[in-house]
Amino acid sequence: MTSQSGDRVSVADRTRYDVGAMTEGDVYKLLSCAVQPRPIAWVSTVSAAGVRNLAPFSFFTVASRSPATLMISIGERIGAPGEPKDTLVNIRETGNFVVNIPSADAADAVTASFATVEPDVDEFALSGATPIASHSVSAPSVLESLISLECELLQEVELGTDTLVLGTVTTVTSRPGVLSENLHVDILEHQFLGRLAGPFYTTDMNRVAQ
Ligand SMILES: Cc1cc2nc3c(=O)[nH]c(=O)nc-3n(C[C@H](O)[C@H](O)[C@H](O)COP(=O)(O)O)c2cc1C
Repeated sequence: MTSQSGDRVSVADRTRYDVGAMTEGDVYKLLSCAVQPRPIAWVSTVSAAGVRNLAPFSFFTVASRSPATLMISIGERIGAPGEPKDTLVNIRETGNFVVNIPSADAADAVTASFATVEPDVDEFALSGATPIASHSVSAPSVLESLISLECELLQEVELGTDTLVLGTVTTVTSRPGVLSENLHVDILEHQFLGRLAGPFYTTDMNRVAQ
């Protein structure tokens, strides 16, 4: 086999990383480089006191097709090791959340909602996203998102520094025209936002059929 540049791939040339001997920060960088592009869960929640919250999570995927289950991985609060992020606090208080799928043109708003602010700050207001009532959960949905998946908390799994949150999807809403009648999506017409390593996003959704 040859590499992308046309060179022959040799075993001896492969660079090795011993994860156990690396710092937490470097392992995080290694994982972020290796697993990309990643989809973005733009997670909306509401606290018991009624304050709305919005934050992006790219350690996110489908956990089961049936029952429809999503998984997000939530790390420690930035700058406060051992403390939970507001998203997790709210999910624990209310037992629900919404995974909103942002379009490529929402990159600025997604970044704005990344801010670690006091729990009483409404991050919809901060990012310019429009909250709308959801159908089956108390957490609001994001009007501008392509698709919103309303979830009931199923289970939390503590895994070192992070908490895996599994949510059962109860109701899904989509922007008009995003999904066709037979549940196909034209990804050139409706561009999804992906996360690359470092501060980079991708909106490049060239399709290769195989
Ligand atoms: C594109 C993007 C993806 C992110 N993915 C994650 C993630 O998967 N897990 C995580 O804990 N934090 C992730 N972050 C950082 C959180 O979004 C940030 O800590 C969050 O906004 C904290 O908000 P909260 O305290 O209101 O929950 C990501 C940030 C960005 C910009």
